[in-house]
Amino acid sequence: MAVRSAFDPKDMTFKYLGPTGLKVSVLSLGGWLTYGGTQKGNIVKDCMQTAWDHGINFFDTAEVYSNGQCEIEMGNAFKELDWPRDEYVLSTKVFFGTGRKEPNTRGLSRKHVVEGLKSCLERLQTPYVDIVFAHRPDVGTPMKEIVEGFTQVIRNLNLAYYWGTSEWSATQITEATLIAEKYNLIAPVVEQPQYNAFHRERFEVEYAPVFEQFQYGTTIWSPLASGLLTGKYNDGVPEDSRFAQNKAFFENTVKELKSPEGQAKIEKVRKLTAVADRLGGSVSQLALAWCAKNKNVSTVILGASKPQQIIENVGALKLLDKLTPEVQEEIEKILDNKPEPAKSFARER
Ligand SMILES: NC(=O)c1ccc[n+]([C@@H]2O[C@H](COP(=O)([O-])OP(=O)(O)OC[C@H]3O[C@@H](n4cnc5c(N)ncnc54)[C@H](OP(=O)(O)O)[C@@H]3O)[C@@H](O)[C@H]2O)c1
Repeated sequence: MAVRSAFDPKDMTFKYLGPTGLKVSVLSLGGWLTYGGTQKGNIVKDCMQTAWDHGINFFDTAEVYSNGQCEIEMGNAFKELDWPRDEYVLSTKVFFGTGRKEPNTRGLSRKHVVEGLKSCLERLQTPYVDIVFAHRPDVGTPMKEIVEGFTQVIRNLNLAYYWGTSEWSATQITEATLIAEKYNLIAPVVEQPQYNAFHRERFEVEYAPVFEQFQYGTTIWSPLASGLLTGKYNDGVPEDSRFAQNKAFFENTVKELKSPEGQAKIEKVRKLTAVADRLGGSVSQLALAWCAKNKNVSTVILGASKPQQIIENVGALKLLDKLTPEVQEEIEKILDNKPEPAKSFARER
């Protein structure tokens, strides 16, 4: 039988996912609020196909996205697209559940890690994911049980190859890693944190030790601050935008936009737009390239309600080389929000 191949990496850059041998495209695609939420059916498949056609090999979802509907929509699309399974990387997340009230249908107990992931796989119509994330820390479950649960789904049940954390503190990541070492369990290898030009502190300061000690990988989310960094909210909230279509969720964000702090952010977006113009790109592309340029970012997860947004956003790759130290300095001055590094008391290595 001939070996099937559908993937063409085009001009994509691939990076190792943290300390692993797994390679992920530096731009990837996720389905929060979009697939199974505002977007259903063919448009989901079209977005995924567009990503794939531009060299994206990594796709992200979660049990909680649209209460399981995101996995169902993306699962249907994968089935129709019929790409060779070894040519793409798929992740999902457990913790928040799918909106049911029963207490064991969420959290990170061994029961929910195993049963939650099994339900994800049913919705996705696939026997395994490459990466399963703990979507938040669960301070109610002993850390040893959490690490055992993820070890079980990987080592005993073959439901995933790697596991990661999402919005865990550096201390929690360290605790899980050391427990795995002590008890011969499998350690997490990747964090999924928010990171963008307006949200930097945890990524750049708190996580610095876990990047250095464990070469921890990152699949970063909301790189465009949900669209704020595209400039689409500079003059109000367009009807067909995320903030308008998810009114309750973004109520405070929209309120904040009208405050002096919000207006200051919009002013920064305007100034970044001028830099992007000069470099021959859009402000969205500049904001994405700024994230991708960070050496501790393994992949920048894009969100897109339309294929056209993916085509524009993949253009960020062209700006990577244009972000010279001088341009980075210029961006830093505009952002004016570089977090202070943790105090070292003159003890730098
Ligand atoms: N682990 C976690 O806790 C967590 C949390 C959030 C997200 N995530 C993951 O990260 C992924 C990306 O996050 P995100 O969706 O918030 O990313 P984002 O890039 O900050 O926002 C994406 C949204 O911005 C708008 N947009 C994107 N490109 C655009 C363009 N070129 N022009 C105009 N508008 C554009 C689209 O919304 P509209 O067209 O609807 O306005 C799109 O859905 C998610 O899908 C999910 O997989 C993880």
